[in-house]
Amino acid sequence: MCHWPDGQSILARAPAKLNLHLEVLGRRDDGFHDLETVMVKLDLHDTLQFRTINTDANVDESSIQLDCRYSSPFFQSDVSSPPPIPVDESNLIVKAARLLQQTTGVTQGAHIELVKRIPVQAGLGGGSSDAAATLVALNQLWGLNYSTAELSQLAAQLGSDVPFFIDSSTAAVCRGRGEIITPVTIRGNFPVILAQPGSGLSTPTVFKKWSELSSQKACRSVEPLLEAMSSGKTNSVARLLFNALQIPAEQLNAQLKQLISLFQKFALPGTLMTGSGSCCFGICQSFRQATSISSLLRTAPFSRVCVTTLHHNRMHHGYYRSTYQ
Ligand code: C5P
Repeated sequence: MCHWPDGQSILARAPAKLNLHLEVLGRRDDGFHDLETVMVKLDLHDTLQFRTINTDANVDESSIQLDCRYSSPFFQSDVSSPPPIPVDESNLIVKAARLLQQTTGVTQGAHIELVKRIPVQAGLGGGSSDAAATLVALNQLWGLNYSTAELSQLAAQLGSDVPFFIDSSTAAVCRGRGEIITPVTIRGNFPVILAQPGSGLSTPTVFKKWSELSSQKACRSVEPLLEAMSSGKTNSVARLLFNALQIPAEQLNAQLKQLISLFQKFALPGTLMTGSGSCCFGICQSFRQATSISSLLRTAPFSRVCVTTLHHNRMHHGYYRSTYQ
């Protein structure tokens, strides 16, 4: 988060996430599913600029104005245009701003400019991250002094993944429906190739498919992965990747299945779908390997591709440069 020198605007980075582990523990009475998932933040990010409303411009002082444009890396080689992003009250950014206004009674509004790099319906948490960035930035812009715990409570009302993005940790185990956050250690960094088939997947549909297919299997433990993450052993992390939603998602999206098979041909240390899809990722041994495989993937007609790394808050961890910057 960075303040413009005029003191009236704030620039925020909203990082994407990956699920390195996602186990579904069961369906709840409220229609959600109990999860145990490990999420990590990525260097790939949307950018949001927040400004106070110019009252000279004859607009309602409390209005929330959202402008959005797409940027690279995923969309530059796109065969089809990316889907339009709604800028009305249905956008999670506007919902976050409205929730903060309603909760605090604040009468100020905001002008928000979103530069969208994270694809939608990808399982990369772009919408959730944008909403979290909005809560944090407007808390500052409007001088509200809400604590992180208070912002997290509001975040949980907006979506299951939003509290993870309020938390400052790079990695966390998220439980409940995803909103109960326990930060965990991840040492080192590694390049990640992200690729998305031409079509996205809706989260409720994937969970529904999981329910249809689920059997009484023992739940997969997260502990070996956490150990590998804290010891910085990238190959062990890659070997322990797991996502219970991948098989249901593959059954719903034939292109996703094709993309996973293609990824497997490259014999990377680890490959997985993130969240409820449809984006897949591969953990690479070197930046060179990531760049050459991403060039091959880009020739596949259905893939949006980019190379990124983990987003560590402390700069000295971020020794890989993402190719989209
Ligand atoms: O919380 P969020 O709004 O992101 O959830 C979107 C949908 O995904 C929910 O309405 C639900 O159908 C499904 N979901 C779920 N269990 C979760 C998270 C999401 O069933 N833990």
